Amino acid sequence: MKVLFINGPNLNMLGEREEDLYGQLSLDDINSLIKEKADSINVEVEFYQSNEEGKIVSRIQSCSGTIDYIVINPAAFTHTSIAIRDALLAVKIGFIEVHLSNIFSREDFRQNSYVSSIALGVISGFGHQGYLMALDALDSLKK
Ligand code: DQA
Repeated sequence: MKVLFINGPNLNMLGEREEDLYGQLSLDDINSLIKEKADSINVEVEFYQSNEEGKIVSRIQSCSGTIDYIVINPAAFTHTSIAIRDALLAVKIGFIEVHLSNIFSREDFRQNSYVSSIALGVISGFGHQGYLMALDALDSLKK
């Protein structure tokens, strides 16, 4: 099983960005933890981060035939991007939506997600653990 982790805009600044909300680990730190866990359960992982909507759309499109599942934190694009939703629908790859913070307890504009209704599931509010939980969830699907 191969899983692609996609992180959207400003998540390259984790560790220095609003630490009270998003934690102290950098994206590289988080990806190392994901890799360590993935190795222990025999799952192959790949990582992609971009601040640009079109690049995320193109990366999703290129998943066909090579990626089994996607774990995506679309960050601010969660609340704005029909293009990312359409790309996820186009490739028909099951995905889990992850947010570090609990978007449902924050500002009104963060409470709408364009991708939740087509996700396998949503994990929001558990910090970086959410990515590891998503990996566990996908691992349990293959059993
Ligand atoms: C986020 C929540 C979004 O509303 C925000 O724009 C982010 C991060 C999260 O992981 O909690 O950049 O996706």
